[in-house]
Amino acid sequence: MKLIKTIAEMQQFSKSASRNGKKVGVVPTMGYLHSGHMSLIDHARKLADVVIVTIFVNPTQFGPNEDLDKYPRDFERDWKSCEQHGVAAVFAPAPEEMYFPDRSTWVVEEKLSQGLCGQSRPTHFRGVTTVVAKLFNATLPDVAVFGQKDAQQAMVIKRMTRDLNFPVEIVVAPIVREADGLAMSSRNKYLSLDERIRALSISASLSDAEARIKAEGRKALGGIAEKIAEKIAASGGKVDYVEVRDADNLEPASESTSCLLIAVAAYFGVTRLIDNILINLN
Ligand code: PAJ
Repeated sequence: MKLIKTIAEMQQFSKSASRNGKKVGVVPTMGYLHSGHMSLIDHARKLADVVIVTIFVNPTQFGPNEDLDKYPRDFERDWKSCEQHGVAAVFAPAPEEMYFPDRSTWVVEEKLSQGLCGQSRPTHFRGVTTVVAKLFNATLPDVAVFGQKDAQQAMVIKRMTRDLNFPVEIVVAPIVREADGLAMSSRNKYLSLDERIRALSISASLSDAEARIKAEGRKALGGIAEKIAEKIAASGGKVDYVEVRDADNLEPASESTSCLLIAVAAYFGVTRLIDNILINLN
């Protein structure tokens, strides 16, 4: 497995693989890899001959009061995990390699990035779209795999890729959960034991909502967001949002919605967790 730190070398590596007829896949990450990330890598390996994992804690997607400095890092462990999962190259650039001090260009998606996480993190998605565009230009992939865990992010990236004609197929892989239901996240590390137990109310309330909707159909939708929010608040979470949206376009769910996305963000202590569930209504 190759460690690549510069954009020039990354492009050379990828071009050379493509010239040799290999399909190139990329899994962009911020490191501190867990089984959720590894499932994306395994997925990418099925779709591509050469899999690149990018590890870059992207400063431009963190707000001024967010956890950039204390975002967890463990490069040694990430390296071993990638090696075990058949990754061909790890692209781990320094911030100075990715960003010019006098940079003045952003990639901004203006519709799907509004609301949900965009509401409380107003500069987050332009940081994500900008860095993902740059990572695509560095790794020159045929296919890129993202996680449904960050449902809005995946939709924003798909839209950016389409609108800007990146020749990259975007694949979204399912959420990987801990045995008790908590969605895996690098940020789970911040939770105290007590918060960790209380945070189970997120996945539990989403599963309850799913069961009700499956049993009662669309009429269960009335008040469903409030019920989820109540359960999370009752277990000590501070709800940022609970949204019931159309999974195809992120519009509020309506009569014509065939697949629902119920998305949640809530704080347990200082840790902001997100989770979501897709529910087919047909
Ligand atoms: P990061 O949070 O490291 O996540 C990298 C990828 O792993 C994302 O596509 C995310 O949705 C996916 N992922 C995280 N937890 C998951 C889980 N439990 N199950 C399945 N997939 C999961 O998302 C980012 O980094 C950054 O915003 C990035 C896209 C790399 C741009 O900086």
